[in-house]
Amino acid sequence: MAIYAIWNNKGGVGKSYLSFQLAAEYARQNTTKKVLVVDLCPQANASSMLLGGMIDGERKLTEIHTSQPRRTISGYIEDRIRSPYMSPNSGIDYITQVSRYNNKVPSNMYLVVGDEQLENQASRVTSATFPGPQDSWRIVHLWIRDLITDIQTSWNNEDSCVFIDCNPSFSIYTELALTAADRLLIPFSADGSSKRAIKAVLSLVYGVRRHQGDTQSDFYLESTRYRMAFPDIYMYIGNRLTQMNSSSASAFKTVVNEIGDEIWGVWQSSPQVFCIHPNGSPTPNSRKAFRSMFQYEVNDANTASVVSGALGIPIASLTAGQKHVAGRSVTVNQSQLDKQVPNITQLVQNIE
Ligand SMILES: Nc1ncnc2c1ncn2[C@@H]1O[C@H](COP(=O)(O)OP(=O)(O)OP(=O)(O)O)[C@@H](O)[C@H]1O
Ligand SMILES: [Mg+2]
Repeated sequence: MAIYAIWNNKGGVGKSYLSFQLAAEYARQNTTKKVLVVDLCPQANASSMLLGGMIDGERKLTEIHTSQPRRTISGYIEDRIRSPYMSPNSGIDYITQVSRYNNKVPSNMYLVVGDEQLENQASRVTSATFPGPQDSWRIVHLWIRDLITDIQTSWNNEDSCVFIDCNPSFSIYTELALTAADRLLIPFSADGSSKRAIKAVLSLVYGVRRHQGDTQSDFYLESTRYRMAFPDIYMYIGNRLTQMNSSSASAFKTVVNEIGDEIWGVWQSSPQVFCIHPNGSPTPNSRKAFRSMFQYEVNDANTASVVSGALGIPIASLTAGQKHVAGRSVTVNQSQLDKQVPNITQLVQNIE
């Protein structure tokens, strides 16, 4: 019954795309479990894909955003702004069964829809963290955890798995997501700036200092003060890797390995911030074993990825052939699917 946050401080690395694909694939592989996606990004990209993509998904998103009461993450946050320190136990009012809107996804998928109102609410959430009781910071940071608990309780605590798509910025709602999560999936793209972004994740969440004397984030300091659990690093995922030719493949490998070195360094000094996968593999005792437990790669599937997102069809259910996207005909090749589907399938097999 684990809760995964998908976060990197860098934008555009595939957080929403992977939230969509991993949650859908998890639901496909685990038909007896309920899968919940909590969209904590005001852009609501994961919600849009889940609800049917660029045209249908966006239309349904607007429908949900304009309905009363507002059955979105912001609806729940509004409840909490009204009752910051006492949970209203209203989480269940805010879920949507995704297959009612998009029949291309399994029926065991549920969503707390993303909402751009989160941006407007952020300052009110932040101000709820200081005027109240002594431990108001702690109570407010548990709001999303409370939301998930409400939903799991209404499911009679049946086996479930939760994925939280996050905004890139280390905003208050990202902090709430990280507090709610047990485990962290860190996607990154294989470019030079990704290494800096990974360092930012390690410093903001776990207080890893880049230079002596660097100040640590309030999130790290306050979570430590209240002895709150941090999400454990579960995987770092090199995403959108291309293998156009051997030189691009090797350039990507170099960057992935550089980032791997950075995270390996953290493992050596702070292994307690990682989650040993519950698949029976022993605690890694070499760089190779470490990589095999924590490092994953997802290739770029080009047109197939675009079509999958645009039509809200999980990549493992997408077939090759002509597709209609926004009035145009595009061709999905089997070779594109073959590049990415095995990565997603295998990655999800390692998610508990
Ligand atoms: N493995 C992949 N193969 C092909 N395209 C991909 C892949 N992963 C992501 N993309 C595409 O890359 C773009 C950026 O991905 P996405 O929106 O998921 O990033 P993000 O990290 O959520 O961005 P943001 O920080 O803005 O929330 C999207 O157009 C998405 O469809
Ligand atoms: Mg996103």
